[in-house]
Amino acid sequence: MIKIFDAMLLLVAFIAILSTALADRQTYIVRMDKAKITNTFMIDSKPWHEAVFDSIADFSSQQEQELEAAAPPELVYSYETGFFGFAAKLSAKQLESLKKVDGFMTAIPDQMLSLHTTHTPQFLGLEGSKGLWHSSNLQTSDVIIGVIDSGIWPEHVSFKDHGMPPIPSRWKGSCEKGSKFSTSNCNKKLIGARAFYKGNLASGGKINQTEENLSARDDAGHGTHTASTAAGNLVPNASLFGLANGTAAGISYTARIAMYKACWVNGCSAADVLAAILAAVEDGVDVLSLSLGFKAQLYYRDHSAIAAFFAFTSGVFVTFSAGNSGPGESTAANTAPWILTVAASTSDRSFPAIVKLGNGKIFQGTSLYTGEATKQLPVVYGKTAGGEGAQYCMVDSLNPKLVKGKIVMCEQGFINFAAKGEQVKLAGGVGMIGLKFGDEDVNAHAHILPAATLGASASEAVEKYFNSTKLPTASIAFKGTKYGNRAPMVAAFSSRGPNLVGLDVIKPDVTAPGVNILAALPPVISPSLLKSDKRRAAFGIMSGTSMSCPHVAGIAALLKSKHKNWSPAAIKSALMTTAYTIDNRGKPIADLSARGSEATPFAMGSGHVDPVKASDPGLIYDITTEDYLHYLCSLKYSAAQMALFSEGFTCPKKVTMQPGDLNYPSFAVNFKGNARNTTFTYERIVTNVGIPRSTYRVSVEEPKGVSIIVKPNVLRFKKLGEKLSYKVSFVGLKKGKSGSSSFGSLVWVSKKYRVRSPIAVTWR
Ligand SMILES: *[C@@H]1O[C@H](CO)[C@@H](O)[C@H](O)[C@H]1NC(C)=O
Ligand SMILES: *[C@@H]1O[C@H](CO)[C@@H](O)[C@H](O)[C@H]1NC(C)=O
Ligand SMILES: *[C@@H]1O[C@H](CO)[C@@H](O)[C@H](O)[C@H]1NC(C)=O
Ligand SMILES: *[C@@H]1O[C@H](CO)[C@@H](O)[C@H](O)[C@H]1NC(C)=O
Ligand SMILES: *[C@@H]1O[C@H](CO)[C@@H](O)[C@H](O)[C@H]1NC(C)=O
Ligand SMILES: *[C@@H]1O[C@H](CO)[C@@H](O)[C@H](O)[C@H]1NC(C)=O
Repeated sequence: MIKIFDAMLLLVAFIAILSTALADRQTYIVRMDKAKITNTFMIDSKPWHEAVFDSIADFSSQQEQELEAAAPPELVYSYETGFFGFAAKLSAKQLESLKKVDGFMTAIPDQMLSLHTTHTPQFLGLEGSKGLWHSSNLQTSDVIIGVIDSGIWPEHVSFKDHGMPPIPSRWKGSCEKGSKFSTSNCNKKLIGARAFYKGNLASGGKINQTEENLSARDDAGHGTHTASTAAGNLVPNASLFGLANGTAAGISYTARIAMYKACWVNGCSAADVLAAILAAVEDGVDVLSLSLGFKAQLYYRDHSAIAAFFAFTSGVFVTFSAGNSGPGESTAANTAPWILTVAASTSDRSFPAIVKLGNGKIFQGTSLYTGEATKQLPVVYGKTAGGEGAQYCMVDSLNPKLVKGKIVMCEQGFINFAAKGEQVKLAGGVGMIGLKFGDEDVNAHAHILPAATLGASASEAVEKYFNSTKLPTASIAFKGTKYGNRAPMVAAFSSRGPNLVGLDVIKPDVTAPGVNILAALPPVISPSLLKSDKRRAAFGIMSGTSMSCPHVAGIAALLKSKHKNWSPAAIKSALMTTAYTIDNRGKPIADLSARGSEATPFAMGSGHVDPVKASDPGLIYDITTEDYLHYLCSLKYSAAQMALFSEGFTCPKKVTMQPGDLNYPSFAVNFKGNARNTTFTYERIVTNVGIPRSTYRVSVEEPKGVSIIVKPNVLRFKKLGEKLSYKVSFVGLKKGKSGSSSFGSLVWVSKKYRVRSPIAVTWR
């Protein structure tokens, strides 16, 4: 304290230095060695992290300028279970001293992650009271789904608890009081709600309480939507202004929900997400759903991955969204193998809008607008609509004199299509046509004026018409909801593999519905998400891998209630090996990133999830915690890196496996440029969970340029639970262009089952 006072006197003179010293302070997530720390620091009554801080504060003040003492290390979180360490604001000097403390392991700067912004149960084959939705599966189950997101609107009809049995006694979570959130907001459906924001505040995030409630209440809409997708109640007659009408249903609609709010207006701090995951595991969730992320990172630097590993070892199934940064290569985030990474694709439902041009040509676009059609009106675009940025209908770019009474065309970019429509309306325009030149995606917006968006081929045709016509005109008409479209198709926005940080594992793992998903909306936001839009609806339609991820969380909950003894890896294997790759027209699943192209495993992983098949997969590829630790050893992790994943595990001196031997339900094979005569041989072990006495024969579709040998090629099981192994050799036949890939599959076929693994071969 005296030191601080002394420092005060110097403060005026050194104000400039101080501000740089303070700016220098950053939040770090610090991992410590529990055994060493408890030996060294737990002698007196102080909490251990305070003792550590005292020691590094002393260090700095002895060695450095007095000024340093003015800003002692500031604790943000202390992590005790699963991850022993803390998050703290430290100066560079303090970090240096901390590194000298016996027991220091790693310090990684905090990061900001972002959110990856009901008809789908039927599309998934969940119906009436059959199959997985049969009462015997649902009522006896008591699965708890934890959702880490932007909070929840607890009063929403999707979270009512009528008829639900008491909360399982194993549940240790809580319903935290906060701004506009009280303990009575939880019930037997929403059994827990907590808010994590200390990391956000420490990293300079300002949670403006006139814009968001400092509690688990959802002021953004994202968390309410994802939570209701995973486990919202059955709500009859749900729709968005009559669109997508029907019974809204969470995929696992009898499961319990626990919300962990870690995402705020400015993003989700990794320190908060880490704290939320650890808390959720402690509280007793069975499944965790996270629709957020940053980008693919080395697993030992990725706190979401490290925390997810702890969840895995605790028996919790964890699924993350892959991200919305597609269709570029290697854009997938959350790629650790113990995580199920979800891509996004369409369902057979669409919201067509018809754009008719002055030359009589008709194009189908998409829209959630429900009003009357426009008349045939003059069309303006770019220079004929306004000044700089008018082509994109950017804020204040449109000229009311040019736009009034007309239809404005707006190209994709900078702001979303609903916000472009808002600009058109503000400038006096009557309608908007959104043009996209990169893809054929069909995600729809709840426009505030008559508007539709077109895919790339229609956009080009419409632009060509505009370019070649003196007085171009158009009209837009709205066709409501249509079913039976070709589906699924992988969305262009869905992030892609290959997996940059783990070449031996295909990512994403599967795809699920993530385009135009109807789910719960809080009453404080509009369906267009525009502030100026005063319309309200209990259900809204959103798109993103954020929406596909909770579908898979819901399915995992159904599988968990049916197969109580299945490990997270077994559930994952079942979801992957039963995923389908042929669409409802009998064709390979298409990729909307380019017209007519087929989705590869780098877009959809093993394929589209099939909950009914996944509940009875025949064989599973199981993976234990120990297996994963050996896998990390095979990646040549150092002792310090290994210690992040497990206390007290040391890699064997002798190499026990290649990374490709991980018992993963898919195969990523990497050849050097000239692969002629190179052979990789990997081992797999399958466990019989189907029919006790059964015979499986292998069926292989070889990727171009590769020959495949499977030994043995017949597996004969005599009982349930029996494990049999096989070896698969990939023989390179050619010299491949660097970065090129080819694809195939390996399927174990019995009378009843097909257990499929995709194969992705890449030449590097
Ligand atoms: C908080 O938000 C309100 C409303 O958007 C705004 O007027 C105010 O300036 C903000 N306060 C801070 C400190 O950013
Ligand atoms: C906080 O929650 C209340 C509901 O209790 C809501 O009316 C209000 O708009 C929320 N505040 C903000 C800033 O979102
Ligand atoms: C269904 O909802 C619509 C509009 O939201 C309403 O007009 C209608 O009466 C409702 N039908 C039933 C059966 O509740
Ligand atoms: C949706 O509404 C339309 C028109 O009101 C009706 O014909 C249709 O049956 C409804 N669909 C569902 C799934 O309820
Ligand atoms: C339309 O004209 C613009 C500007 O001259 C040009 O950039 C664009 O490529 C043209 N589009 C088509 C489809 O011809
Ligand atoms: C591949 O192996 C075969 C048989 O061992 C040999 O004849 C051939 O020359 C080899 N090719 C290359 C490119 O090494």
